[in-house]
Amino acid sequence: MAEKKQQIYEGKAKKVFATDDPNLYIVSYKDDATAFNGEKKGQIAGKGAVNNIMTDVIFEMLEKSGVPTHFVEKLSDTDTLVKAVKIFPLEVIIRNVAAGSFSQRYGVDEGTALLKPTLEFSYKNDALGDPLLNDDHALALGLVTEGQLAQIRDYTHRINGMLQFFFIEIGLKLIDFKVEFGADNATGEVILADEISPDTCRLWDAATGEKMDKDRFRRDLGNVEETYQAVLSRVMGVNKK
Ligand code: TMP
Ligand code: ASP
Repeated sequence: MAEKKQQIYEGKAKKVFATDDPNLYIVSYKDDATAFNGEKKGQIAGKGAVNNIMTDVIFEMLEKSGVPTHFVEKLSDTDTLVKAVKIFPLEVIIRNVAAGSFSQRYGVDEGTALLKPTLEFSYKNDALGDPLLNDDHALALGLVTEGQLAQIRDYTHRINGMLQFFFIEIGLKLIDFKVEFGADNATGEVILADEISPDTCRLWDAATGEKMDKDRFRRDLGNVEETYQAVLSRVMGVNKK
């Protein structure tokens, strides 16, 4: 089994380790939670395991459906072996329903259906507060090439369609989500990296509208740990079918 060598990166929710193989990393998920660009800090017991296990299930599903991902093998509840990538410094967000910063920025009530799935980019740069960015900005700054950008847009819209279907089957409405892509060290290809979890998606119970995601932590809504576990149970339920 692959072993962790030196730590090469520590983010707010994950650590990344080198392995003996330069084209493989180990991602290790933490229970640490932050919000508002690190201003609010806390811990969500069991979050690392929920996010790791859920991401692995979803990445395997996406991979089978033609979206290449960094997933290689689940190593433990909190650790996954992944392909080494160079992450593009872009947060790629799709919104199906107005919420969060979209509602604030444009003065639209949370829960308002959007007339089309709306893709937006932020520049992954904590010092600048992850500013919103359009295609020209990303190209002008050399963050991606035109070809990479087109691929990222296409993959993200396809991911949105597959995730909406996946989540509605388990009674969850996909309001919005954030993904990150990287260039595969070995091949240079654009592949999906990072995670897809209650940290990076807004998921509302389809029947009650209850928030089933990190907004419970961001907004102090309570039942944070229980909600992460409930989402994982639903995901594992559908996975066993
Ligand atoms: P926003 O409405 O706060 O811009 O968030 C949009 C989506 O992106 C939401 O599903 C949460 C996710 N997100 C992250 O994964 N990381 C972040 O740093 C932020 C700000 C949002
Ligand atoms: N994790 C992000 C941060 O601390 C924000 C968020 O998810 O709301 O900046």
